[in-house]
Amino acid sequence: MDKFIVIGGIPLKGEISVRAAKNALLPCLAASLLTSEKIIFERTSLLVDIFSMISLLEHLGVKIEGKVGESITLKADEVSSLVAPYDLVRKMRASVLVLGPLLARFKKAKVSLPGGCAIGARPVDQHIKGLKALGAEIDYEEGYIVAKCDELKGGDIFFDKVTVGGTQNILMASVLAKGRTTIANAAREPEVVDLGNLLKKMGAKIEGLGTDRIVVEGVDELKGGVHNPIPDRIECGTFLAAAAATKGKIKVKDCNPIHLEAFLMKLEEMGYEVVSNENSIFLNGEKEVNSVDITTSPYPGFPTDLQAQFVALLTQAVGTATVREEIFETRFMHIPELQRLGADIKLEGNAAVVKGKTSLKGAPVMASDLRASASLVIAGLVAKGKTIINRIYHLDRGYEKFEERLQSLGARIERIK
Ligand code: EPZ
Repeated sequence: MDKFIVIGGIPLKGEISVRAAKNALLPCLAASLLTSEKIIFERTSLLVDIFSMISLLEHLGVKIEGKVGESITLKADEVSSLVAPYDLVRKMRASVLVLGPLLARFKKAKVSLPGGCAIGARPVDQHIKGLKALGAEIDYEEGYIVAKCDELKGGDIFFDKVTVGGTQNILMASVLAKGRTTIANAAREPEVVDLGNLLKKMGAKIEGLGTDRIVVEGVDELKGGVHNPIPDRIECGTFLAAAAATKGKIKVKDCNPIHLEAFLMKLEEMGYEVVSNENSIFLNGEKEVNSVDITTSPYPGFPTDLQAQFVALLTQAVGTATVREEIFETRFMHIPELQRLGADIKLEGNAAVVKGKTSLKGAPVMASDLRASASLVIAGLVAKGKTIINRIYHLDRGYEKFEERLQSLGARIERIK
């Protein structure tokens, strides 16, 4: 298993570009199942999760041309299987996103239940509730969701909880349903909007994207399209947090600052100099800064996917901060590892109380999930001496060539095979 060796204490400096958003690409790739025509993605990112989705789509019979990391073309004109097997789904929960499109186009699907993961139980009950509202019959067999219908019909869905994946699955199911579907308490995340925009290019009739009430008028069929996915706001925020924590100065390019408003405003509240342009963000982290409290919430609130990185940053701010995690039950696996590096953090239920400023010291630590791994890398870049981060395969799921790109900003970080 690969590990990172990080020698901390060097402020990150320079410019870095953001890649295509993993969490936008994953549902958009699944949307290729909705048409027999070609869907072209003008750019993709080289991530293990993208390969996992591609493997699943290939298993279903989707033809894929091109190289992951560059432009790829998908064509689902000869879908040969309607089963998403456990072995593929357990590797990546987002596999459940094939359920909506398969059911909408082929009237049946059998998709393994994803099970829990390190950050929480993560049920899919809202996806199921939504599909039932569209007329699907759902059974469970040996760990699989078995869904069928004569045809999907438009319906009214109220999500009991804001769910990104649930909204995306129902959006993909409803575009081919007969009649009108209303999704209330819908997720407003840019990744939902990006999927909706691709569906619209394919001929779907959707209104209300980016609001909590999405209305879809079903159409008989969808055509192909060309799509350039949005930049990865979480990757962008991770680089900014790393630069801020190391007292560096960076410009992040090819990003969309509007997608990161809550995060950027918190950085400014701390005292960082942040200058946003249309598609770039400059951050100067040289000054001493103060702690701020954060509470994660659905978009446009503070993203849960940046909570772990922000906790690492808060160890370098003066004062006491309370970090509340409101989306996932167990998304604090990075805390005991950060404590190993000398962080002063107490866990109180779903809150972490971070006292700063602490001088971190290198130690061996263990990554538990994608964003926790990024948090440990940030802490390692700050810590005096050598930090060894084990199990970085989690990082490769969501950050393309992370160590090489950090090296380009001056970081001393190395991958040991
Ligand atoms: C997406 O996961 C992202 N993944 C996650 O990114 C992100 O953390 C999350 O949204 C929240 O922003 C992808 O886009 C591939 P949810 P998703 O459905 O869709 C509960 C990362 O690091 N819930 O919005 O699975 C659920 O348990 C990752 O890149 C139900 O109770 O998240 C959670 O508490 C990890 N029932 C909350 O809702 C349901 O049917 C939000 O989950 C669905 C969700």
